[in-house]
Amino acid sequence: MPDLSVTYGSLECRNPFVVASASTSRTVQQIKTAEEVGAGAVILKAIVTKHPYEAKPFYYNDPQKQFLTNPSDPRLLVDEGVELIKACKKESGLPIIANTMGSGGNLESWGDISKTLEAAGADMIEINLGCPNIGLMQKALGNIKGDEDQVLGAICGQSPLVAAGIVKTVRQAVKVPIMVKMTPSASDMTAVAEACMKEGADCVDISNVPQILPGVDIYHDGRPLYANYVTAPFSGLCGPANKVFTLRNIAQLSMKRKDAEIVGSGGLMDWEDCVEAILCGAKATALCTAIYWHGWDIFNTLNKRLHQYMEEMGYQTTEDFRGHALKYIATHETCEFRYVVPELDKSKCKKCGICAKPGHCDAIEMVDGYPSITIEKCMGCSLCASLCPAKALKLVPNPLPPSRVPTH
Ligand SMILES: Cc1cc2nc3c(=O)[nH]c(=O)nc-3n(C[C@H](O)[C@H](O)[C@H](O)COP(=O)(O)O)c2cc1C
Ligand code: SF4
Ligand code: SF4
Repeated sequence: MPDLSVTYGSLECRNPFVVASASTSRTVQQIKTAEEVGAGAVILKAIVTKHPYEAKPFYYNDPQKQFLTNPSDPRLLVDEGVELIKACKKESGLPIIANTMGSGGNLESWGDISKTLEAAGADMIEINLGCPNIGLMQKALGNIKGDEDQVLGAICGQSPLVAAGIVKTVRQAVKVPIMVKMTPSASDMTAVAEACMKEGADCVDISNVPQILPGVDIYHDGRPLYANYVTAPFSGLCGPANKVFTLRNIAQLSMKRKDAEIVGSGGLMDWEDCVEAILCGAKATALCTAIYWHGWDIFNTLNKRLHQYMEEMGYQTTEDFRGHALKYIATHETCEFRYVVPELDKSKCKKCGICAKPGHCDAIEMVDGYPSITIEKCMGCSLCASLCPAKALKLVPNPLPPSRVPTH
């Protein structure tokens, strides 16, 4: 019988599914619901020393549901955070992770607020070095000069030095484990994570999200797409679009540092996404947009399906497959190829001609309504097979020796 429990940063959780920090983790009722539906832990909404600006919970979903973006979301002040943690510890048995940041330009305040949240009962402190909605836009526009109030959020997570300084301060202030939440806007997230680990971070949350402009209304003079903004800032890109970056970043840190304890977050929408993150090295997975889009029930499904999957695969614990994908990741210089060509199954072909269109390939032409493949011209790139809507093209070993396979 599979055991779904996991441990990261010495926090023991009944399963790897974490409620990510957002407006879905700002009330005790939400935390109780999370516990009922089977979440493994919860990261509370960011707790701050003062509100950086007036925030309103406005969202924009792109029509294809590739992302959810939020330019601002109200945070909790210290007193509210303390009350919430106390209530959570009284009314729920879930591990409570307090997501927090100090005041811009005041290192000590990071330690002070963390100590206060630890005293309230937080089981772990998540240092927020990733918020894309504080400071980042002002920095990009050249409006931040020095140690000002807005040097917060993702700006801190862009610099290994700044991040390490914050972790050092918090490490000295608290005994509970520390998690650091990264930003994909760092040019080298691995370097930031390593600097944090060196100063005592127990685990790394990979990651918060990049800052975007979700689009503009082409029929109304380029106004914001948000129904409820007249003018709008750049915003954080949440949801499925991030998964590929999240997996890359988890894998990259796991490859460099086998001892890294990673909670994967960003674009993980279902149990399969979470399994992928674990295969890439994550110990646990945090979900946010999935809860906004599908509600709390998703945790029931995540647990059930992970259990079924592990039973089917013969895994006892998630450690039986964690990081297994890493051995298949190689540098461009060292990767191995499989030489294949497409083979047509005429009975499935809809004669649509899509496979003959790719601009880089002259190996396929339509003859009597069906694709005809010239093997000598095929590079074995596999694109046609993946484009075929009828799955009528199967990739089979190329009978030609590798030296005769064209590259272009
Ligand atoms: C409305 C909203 C509010 C968020 N608030 C916080 C926050 O307070 N602190 C934080 O570290 N991340 C916050 N996030 C980021 C999420 O925790 C998560 O890292 C991000 O949404 C990526 O995961 P997803 O693709 O599953 O949504 C917020 C996200 C959303 C959508
Ligand atoms: S595998 Fe690539 S090169 Fe070969 S026929 Fe298909 S698209 Fe063309
Ligand atoms: S894309 Fe598929 S269905 Fe369409 S012509 Fe090619 S093989 Fe046939």
